[in-house]
Parts: sequence; C-alpha cells; structure tokens
Amino acid sequence: MSENHDHHNQSGLIAFLGSMAFVFVFFIYIVFINKGVTLDEKVQDAAPVGAPKFELASVKDPWNGAPEVITAGQKLYKANCAMCHGEKGDLVGGIPNARNFTKDPWKQGDGIINHFKVVQNGIPGTQMASFKASLKPYERWAILSFIETLAAKKSTDKPEDVAAFAAKAE
Ligand code: HEC
Repeated sequence: MSENHDHHNQSGLIAFLGSMAFVFVFFIYIVFINKGVTLDEKVQDAAPVGAPKFELASVKDPWNGAPEVITAGQKLYKANCAMCHGEKGDLVGGIPNARNFTKDPWKQGDGIINHFKVVQNGIPGTQMASFKASLKPYERWAILSFIETLAAKKSTDKPEDVAAFAAKAE
C-alpha cells in the first residue's frame, strides 16, 4: 500500500519538476536569449531558409541571362526605359519614335555589345540618352539581358567576346 502511494507521488513529482524546468528554461530564453523581432527581420525571414541574398553586383557575367539577372534587369528596365520603350519593349505605354524591341530592326548594329554601346553613349540627336552616369555597367548588362528575352532579333555575340568587351567597358 505504501508502495502504491509512493508511486503516485513520484510521477507527480516528475511532472512537477518537468514543468518547473520548462518554465525556468523559457524564462531564461525570454530574458537573456530572445532579442525580439523587428519588422526587418520578419521580412528577411520570409526568404527561403538558407537561400543566399542575390547581389547583382557580384555576378561575373551579367550578360549571360541567368534568371535572377533577368528579373533584376526587368526591374531596372521598368524604372529607366519603360517610359519610352514600353513595359514589354513594344512601345505600349512608351513613345512612338523609340525602338520597338519586339519587331524593329537594330539601327546601331546587332548584338548585345552594340546595344551596350547605345546605352552607354546614347544616340546623339535622338531622345535616346546616355545612361553612363546613372546606371552601373552591370546594371546595363542586366537590363540588356532582359531586353534579349523580348527582342525580335537576338544577340549572337559570343560570351567570350562579350566578356572581353565588358572587361574594358565603363
Ligand atoms: C526618353 C526616352 C527613352 C528612354 C528613357 C530610353 N530610350 Fe532607348 N531609345 C529611345 C529612342 C527615341 C530610340 C530610337 C532612336 C533613333 O534611332 O531614332 C531608342 C533606341 C534604343 C535602342 C536601339 C538601338 C538600335 O541599335 O537600334 C536601344 C538598345 C535602347 N534604346 C535601349 C534603351 C535602354 C536599355 C533604356 C533604359 C536604360 C532606354 N533605351 C531608355 C528613347 C528612349
């Protein structure tokens, strides 16, 4: 009988000590470890766990049309080019005398190297201005990677030629 009595007390004690231990650990966590969550951290937490943050500036070959580069290029295009060339490069929402990338022929030469020169220097005597001061070279390459996806006439420039040109381009 006393054995049975002890047995009950023992499991009660274990449960009691267990919950005290939990409360203690939780208390330590709240007071000493948890630093709170700011809105910024919450937004960052929304990215998939372990996914590295994409940095366009660190891409070695932003002319090669990697999907993340095209996405970044599209954003830059919307902010800098869409008001004249249209969001989809077809002049819809743009101006009628700008180039329609989806069907017009290139007038300054085919290929992404020539397009880079246009964005770098502009086309004198037209509304196509130079973006040399306002966009970094890698930003211009990213925009051109995006334009390639909708261009009627794709670039056939060899990646090694583009790399050699890009190494000297400002
Ligand atoms: C203010 C209006 C305007 C903006 C903004 C603009 N463009 Fe243009 N762009 C033009 C016009 C107009 C032409 C056609 C010029 C001509 O040949 O008469 C043109 C032509 C071009 C061409 C054609 C070159 C060829 O060989 O035919 C490219 C490429 C181009 N723009 C890229 C861009 C990019 C990239 C941006 C954004 C970074 C941009 N443009 C922003 C007006 C603009």
